[in-house]
Amino acid sequence: MTRKGILLAGGTGSRLWPITLGVSKQLLPIYDKPMIYYPLSVLMLSGIREVAIITTPEDQPQFQRLLGDGDQWGMQFTWIIQDRPEGLAQAYLLARDFLNGAPSAMVLGDNIFFGHGLPEVLARANEQDSGGTVFGYHVADPERYGVAIFDADGRVTELVEKPAVPRSNFAITGLYFLDGRAPDIAAGIKPSARGELEIVDLLEHYRAESSLQVERMGRGFAWLDTGTPGSLLEAGNFVRTLEERQGMQVGSPDEIAFRQGWIDRTALADRAQAFAKSSYGRHLAGILRDKGQ
Ligand code: G1P
Repeated sequence: MTRKGILLAGGTGSRLWPITLGVSKQLLPIYDKPMIYYPLSVLMLSGIREVAIITTPEDQPQFQRLLGDGDQWGMQFTWIIQDRPEGLAQAYLLARDFLNGAPSAMVLGDNIFFGHGLPEVLARANEQDSGGTVFGYHVADPERYGVAIFDADGRVTELVEKPAVPRSNFAITGLYFLDGRAPDIAAGIKPSARGELEIVDLLEHYRAESSLQVERMGRGFAWLDTGTPGSLLEAGNFVRTLEERQGMQVGSPDEIAFRQGWIDRTALADRAQAFAKSSYGRHLAGILRDKGQ
């Protein structure tokens, strides 16, 4: 079965208040694009065209204004409401009908990935029909994340959510490739002490049956944090530095849709024309002229 995508863009963004009192965190700019473009691009690079976007009831209209039904990128978006944020694993319950037994890739709407070879890494994860694949990334502050602990042979032995005293520097990024059983497994999870259906408990089920791959994303990858005002600014600066130096774009759904063959030159030209006043639009026009990419 073809893998489907889940883009989780709920939450209150309370760590960024007051910025996110009036607007969803995932709509904030990361330099020249809304944050949600970046994780959406990751799903697109994985070859996924059918995506459920999960938001709060208040924020859904703004996301719909931005993203529409996906047709502009040759995609299909399904809109799902999360009334109360009750944990990341809840997304699989909300998306059960949408998935209809299909394997999935879920990405958190505030996770930004960049790296040489990313499409190949994603393709490998996409090829796994059974079990799950998640990505471990070495960070300086593992206590802020879900953490993977490995044995001497590099096998993952334990997953811990936000450990007070981390026993590993490998954070689990917010990108989860799981097989079609994920909604059923999520239905069997009990809420944690903080009252949430924890993603690590869902992943722990796969780990315990030895069907969880934890792929390490090495030095050549950037997994950027957007959780604090400072890291938000740094993520924007990082994207700006890359884009200005290379004359290429990070996280452009229009460009990816074109390169995947989901939209044709005419459709891309229309988009470039519509955005002609912005640097994003001028870059799209540049893709149509440039032969060297
Ligand atoms: C969530 C997950 C955590 C993961 C992180 C990645 O944490 O619970 O396991 O490492 O996303 O961004 P949150 O950002 O919701 O605190």
